[in-house]
Amino acid sequence: MTEEHMPAVVTITKVIDETPTIKTFVFDELFNIRPGQFCMVWVPGVDEIPMAFSAANAITVMKVGDATAALFTLKEGDKIGIRGPFGNGFFPTGKVLAIGGGIGVTPLFTLAAGGEVDTFILGARTAEELVFADELANVTDLKIATDDGTRGYHGFVTGILDQLDATEYDTICVCGPEMMMKGILDRLIARGIESRGQFSLHRYMKCGVGVCGSCCIDHEGLRVCRDGPVFTGDIIRNSEFAHHHRGPSGRKE
Ligand SMILES: Cc1cc2nc3c(=O)[nH]c(=O)nc-3n(C[C@H](O)[C@H](O)[C@H](O)COP(=O)(O)OP(=O)(O)OC[C@H]3O[C@@H](n4cnc5c(N)ncnc54)[C@H](O)[C@@H]3O)c2cc1C
Ligand code: FES
Repeated sequence: MTEEHMPAVVTITKVIDETPTIKTFVFDELFNIRPGQFCMVWVPGVDEIPMAFSAANAITVMKVGDATAALFTLKEGDKIGIRGPFGNGFFPTGKVLAIGGGIGVTPLFTLAAGGEVDTFILGARTAEELVFADELANVTDLKIATDDGTRGYHGFVTGILDQLDATEYDTICVCGPEMMMKGILDRLIARGIESRGQFSLHRYMKCGVGVCGSCCIDHEGLRVCRDGPVFTGDIIRNSEFAHHHRGPSGRKE
């Protein structure tokens, strides 16, 4: 068993309230990550869940269910387990466009913080739910979209994408709700540049290391944890992406 398969027990050194439903947990250990890689977070007594790194020593979490709600109760000095880093991460070349919606900004944030993103389209339902907007404005050309128009463009990130010439970019890195990513994939396919798209998928995971099969997205057994979580558009266009998820039993939902 290699080192990343063993959980490192880390101590939370800081908790940052990003939005009413999103918090960043900074811990006392730096992991050697590539942007877009994730870890399995062991929440003592509750569950182990996948989370992208939002920094070499941090995760940024949206409260959606049992494990994330339990994480939200933790404070400075509390301990969690981190297994990883896992997955391929983004592999950008040339001129890079990043598109992040909601909590999907997390894996893209490390890419932008490393100076690798030329243009960043950031979306959320309202201004209050935008994550990392100030930090991103310092490191990239930031364009903001909110569904309710409370900040930036009034509408979806795809509305801003339609105003740009996507063919000017060599790599288009994307993470967000699957229907948002589908809207972007459709636009890249229409321009014949879907292979330039790199999509980071959020799927149900149990093991995180390619053994259990719970994160498969096609009949060939393509696994989000081991073969992804980042896939190019030409790969996922023929997969279960944007059609259905699988739950804990493996059944399609
Ligand atoms: C590679 C990867 C990176 C991720 N990075 C982040 C991140 O940086 N920040 C973050 O907040 N979340 C991230 N997620 C999603 C996170 O793993 C889930 O939100 C978490 O597992 C939910 O656990 P829970 O017990 O709180 O909710 P549950 O009780 O398990 O579920 C609550 C609701 O969330 C849905 N859900 C559960 N798991 C997922 C999932 N994996 N993807 C989509 N919907 C899900 C369920 O269908 C249900 O509707 C990532 C997922 C993956 C696979
Ligand atoms: S989570 Fe077990 S194979 Fe991917």
